[in-house]
Amino acid sequence: MTRTVRPATRLSGSLRLPGDKSISHRYAMLAAIAEGTTRIRNYSSAGDCASTLGALEALGVPVDRRGDEVVIEGRGLAGLRQPDRALDAGNSGSTIRMLAGILAGQPFRAVIAGDESLSRRPMDRVIRPLEQMGATVRARDGRYPPLEIVGGNLKPIEYELPVASAQVKTCVLFAGLYAEGVTTVIEPVRTRDHTEIALREFGAEVCVEGRRISVRGRARLKARELEVPGDLSSAAFFLAASLLVPDSELIIEGVGLNPTRAALLDFLASQGAAIRVLRLGQSAGEPAGDVLVRHSRLSGGVIEGALAAALIDEIPVLAVLGAASRDGLLVRDAAELRVKESDRIATMAENLRRMGIEIEEAPDGFRVPGNQRFRAAELDSFGDHRIAMACAVAALAADGETQIHGAEAAGVSLPEFFRLLEAVVQD
Ligand code: S3P
Repeated sequence: MTRTVRPATRLSGSLRLPGDKSISHRYAMLAAIAEGTTRIRNYSSAGDCASTLGALEALGVPVDRRGDEVVIEGRGLAGLRQPDRALDAGNSGSTIRMLAGILAGQPFRAVIAGDESLSRRPMDRVIRPLEQMGATVRARDGRYPPLEIVGGNLKPIEYELPVASAQVKTCVLFAGLYAEGVTTVIEPVRTRDHTEIALREFGAEVCVEGRRISVRGRARLKARELEVPGDLSSAAFFLAASLLVPDSELIIEGVGLNPTRAALLDFLASQGAAIRVLRLGQSAGEPAGDVLVRHSRLSGGVIEGALAAALIDEIPVLAVLGAASRDGLLVRDAAELRVKESDRIATMAENLRRMGIEIEEAPDGFRVPGNQRFRAAELDSFGDHRIAMACAVAALAADGETQIHGAEAAGVSLPEFFRLLEAVVQD
């Protein structure tokens, strides 16, 4: 589907976003292996999170979804059923990698597959630790989906993650729930800690000492009533659009502000962004609040090291802000961008160039000089939700109408994106 995006004169008003995608996946998976009925309010509307629910149903877990409320009848650690067909993770790296950890603990064979983009993404990062724990995992060419997992009888391990990945951390900790004893993951840099928080909420014993995270296996998980805060990574597009378009002022209500994700707000503030958090609260161990943002001329900056891991999902839209900033944006240590839903270094560079923006690619990042203007152009999502939405933000500041091909990809994380954008944009 092609979307036309017109230049905006300003953004104003307030909006509330669907629940956080990362948190929704974790709550649903833990609810499935907990004992009792879990009710999740403000469950993410993302296509990815629907993939997780579909896979859980195929594993014999009753799921009742009414709008943004999901009720899951937990089956207990040992209650999943062997699926009679391949599980479908769709476009979702989180679904395949995190669920692989749970499948590794099951005494049956299961296959989990995904769409064309997911079938090109590396899975050796989860295969290696799961095999060390005693599961058998087969993959296309040893590293790509579909994965065939024969689980059962896991032993605990201490595993040092070779890449900073919250999905891999989660996979190993979820498998650890099925091992007798304590399973430990050591991260190269701290990544989002929703799994640690959610495991505790469901009653597991989790110990965090710096970058070492341990879980005790064979815990009985208990069902919960939970509310998911709004998705900060979706909010990032609205924050960026408001910063970019003159005279904008927007409030985003009830958004998740977990410190391992909110590095985005600090990074923007350090460049002179007028961003304020109002009404900070907590829900099931996850901080949330309202965020007020006003148009600001940013200085530009550098993303590297631990910051690259913390901002990994936001870098496409930060590239847009970088081009409009005073000094530009330099990104390095972000080679992971090349193995996301698309090669995000290449697909962002391609789209920005079509808009007349100068950008220099590197194997692990890019440099985009500041003080540039966006030319209206024909852009392409390359099937990647965050590229579709980053393009739409750039288009708001362009000198004419921009077409975005494959705009429906936004539905992978935020199906309401264009509708919500129209509601706050004045053209
Ligand atoms: C996620 C972790 C990140 C992120 C993805 C969601 C998660 O992936 O890019 O959108 O929910 O744990 P990696 O674990 O591959 O870094």
